[in-house]
Amino acid sequence: MPKLVVVNRAGEESTIEVEDGLTVMEAIRDNGFDELLALCGGCCSCATCHVHVDPVFADRLPAMSEDEDDLLESSDHRQETSRLSCQIPFESDLDGLKVTIAPED
Ligand code: FES
Repeated sequence: MPKLVVVNRAGEESTIEVEDGLTVMEAIRDNGFDELLALCGGCCSCATCHVHVDPVFADRLPAMSEDEDDLLESSDHRQETSRLSCQIPFESDLDGLKVTIAPED
């Protein structure tokens, strides 16, 4: 199974294996990272699934929607590499993707 590397807010890195068909948010949440609240369940309306993505993978990610862009704009921790993890389906070509859970807003 493809692997996802998750860095939590304490800076600790873990590698998890991701089943087919999950988003990055679901993979993180289902592996017990309770820092990632994902309050809206993945419908792009809360921004509590904010992550910073390793720039190496930037051109392999799906384009950002206007809604995602607006929600990220409301975060004090937005960076160039910010994404909402519920908007990234974890495809096998993202094997090895590294994401850092953004600080809480
Ligand atoms: S889980 Fe709410 S925007 Fe991603």
